[in-house]
Amino acid sequence: MIVLGIETSCDETAASVVEAKNKKKKILSNILYSQFKEHKDYGGIVPEIAFREHLKLIDKIILRALKKAKKEFKEIDVIAATGGPGLHGGLLIGTTIAKSISLSIDKPFMPINHLEGHILSPRIEYNLSFPYLVLLITGGHTMLVIAHKIGKYEILGMTLDDALGEAFDKTAKLLNIGFPGGPQIEKLAKRGSPSIELAQPLINSNDCNFSFSGLKTSVVKIVNSKKNKSDKFKADICCSFQYTILNIIKKKCELGLQIFQKKYPNKKKKIVVVGGVASNSFLRKNLEKFTITNNSNLFIPAKNLCTDNAAMIAWVAAEKFKKNKQNNFNFQPLPNWHI
Ligand code: KG4
Ligand code: ZN
Repeated sequence: MIVLGIETSCDETAASVVEAKNKKKKILSNILYSQFKEHKDYGGIVPEIAFREHLKLIDKIILRALKKAKKEFKEIDVIAATGGPGLHGGLLIGTTIAKSISLSIDKPFMPINHLEGHILSPRIEYNLSFPYLVLLITGGHTMLVIAHKIGKYEILGMTLDDALGEAFDKTAKLLNIGFPGGPQIEKLAKRGSPSIELAQPLINSNDCNFSFSGLKTSVVKIVNSKKNKSDKFKADICCSFQYTILNIIKKKCELGLQIFQKKYPNKKKKIVVVGGVASNSFLRKNLEKFTITNNSNLFIPAKNLCTDNAAMIAWVAAEKFKKNKQNNFNFQPLPNWHI
């Protein structure tokens, strides 16, 4: 089966062709234009700008994905596009162009939930079977989920305020170190030490919910109280911020693993970390150590499959279409689509 996937839910215009043949999976192409230059002056994503950029680029990105995969439209079996959650304008562009292609080549269209794309993404590279615990950390969402099987996801907890990626972006904006914040904080943190104590909201709440707005507020207070915001100070803040995040997510993953183990006492404990923030090398390295001490296995996709991409969207369609051949042509974008 050859699937064309399209992703336009936020600020990445992306298309990918994947091939699924029995148990073999292959990403034939994974093309992406990241609009960070267009949004950087605003320190965040401007929906109207994202919409216009998607409109300008999407057809070219799709053609490049086909060319790289050495496929023609007539060889595609299924066309998938992100149907939500995300910015309505981008979702409309992706689903509309996917439906147009589906109509013109007479092949099914499948709308895909973006979060499900992240949750299933490690199954492209790894031989990863269900069930597994997922820490989903993106710019818009933060949650702990048990993936029981395809289509059955149990949310153990989620953020009550900011998403983790959002906390990275807002902290970077406050320090005036650039956008998107995650990679900038990661870079600067390498030169700092974890010497500044920051709030760790909900760390002892004994549930799987997260909160990051209090952490952000403690950064604001410390930054505002400092007259000389030297590079060393900024590096220390970034480093302390990353250590604080690590403490919080380790604690929540421990709780998540306990719940997982009660439900599946005879299964190997598996943790999957997905979403843009999972591309952070400091977190990757330390979560590896954490899972070794916890006697669990860790699966984190390659960095380019952690941040938004269309291969994960095509992949969900490949997994689902095998089980249930469907054409969802009447679908309308769902900006708040839950899993
Ligand atoms: O999954 P993603 O690409 O898009 C959404 O679905 O939201 O996640 C984007 C988020 C942004 O907030 C970005 O700052 C964060 O992922 N991010 C990182 C890193 N790279 C991207 N956060 C921490 N460290 C990174 N290296
Ligand atoms: Zn995402």
